[in-house]
Amino acid sequence: MKERTLADKIRDLKKLRNAVIVAHNYQRDEVQDIADYVGDSLGLSQEAAKSHADVIVFCGVHFMAETASILSPSKTILMPDLGAGCPMANMITAESLRTLKKKHPEATVVCYVNTTAEVKAESDICCTSSNAVKVVESVEGSEVIFVPDKYLAHYVSTKTKKKIIPWNGYCPTHFRILPEHILTQKGLHPEAEVMVHPECTPPVIALADKVLSTGGMCKYAKESKASEIIVGTEIGILHRLRKENPNKKFYPASESAICPNMKLATVEKVFWSLENMKYVVKVPDDIRISARNAVDKMLRVL
Ligand code: 13P
Ligand code: SF4
Repeated sequence: MKERTLADKIRDLKKLRNAVIVAHNYQRDEVQDIADYVGDSLGLSQEAAKSHADVIVFCGVHFMAETASILSPSKTILMPDLGAGCPMANMITAESLRTLKKKHPEATVVCYVNTTAEVKAESDICCTSSNAVKVVESVEGSEVIFVPDKYLAHYVSTKTKKKIIPWNGYCPTHFRILPEHILTQKGLHPEAEVMVHPECTPPVIALADKVLSTGGMCKYAKESKASEIIVGTEIGILHRLRKENPNKKFYPASESAICPNMKLATVEKVFWSLENMKYVVKVPDDIRISARNAVDKMLRVL
């Protein structure tokens, strides 16, 4: 009899637990390949909200699993490796946000989804990289506190008349992508279009043809007439781009744009996670209810 592979065993466990595996676009290639759904932060939240599974194995970083718990409190949310945090999300605390709010009592607080549940609970509305401009435009008032990503805040400020009050946070992975990297790739591939993530620094964004969330990049890659695209984001996305567009060429802006936390989940850890029902991520009710308010408001703006 043929020996059962790890993927077979994971499939069996998924059935037994009534579980689904969801993975962010930056996950390892082989983790993306065993996932039931691969997407960006917004897509993953929506998937968690509508899923009928009892268990969601979340291959991403901690704030993403928390968002799933906020939206689906009756489901068991598992992370294969609890150490997978987002350094940018950890650059602001609920307490420091409370202090900032006191300084700007008239401002509406928009938090990027890359925040802890406690920070979401202190915010009026949440956003992701795919809807940040729309969310900021949707709120009443002319002043917006935007946390924690100063570069996304800057990008949004170029698209709205509202006054944006940023927090001094940023993504260390996107920070590694330099304008020189884009220029080098443009020199090597003069016909290629450039798409970058809005977590990139302003000089990098200035060189881009398109500024998109990871989900937006996957969609754009399919629809664009360009047969070559330079990609300014975490390099895990290249797996999906190449798989879905075998006739197009994708060049990473920088090979060093790797998020180590996104690589912590492995296929072996996914198996272990389902086998042992660990590690459970559960946002306590007192925080969850206010945080949900901010996430629900965002989902209504879409
Ligand atoms: P999106 O997938 O929503 O574009 O976010 C990118 C990211 O850095 C998540 O941590
Ligand atoms: Fe956080 Fe950046 Fe990693 Fe995304 S890529 S999880 S923002 S550190």
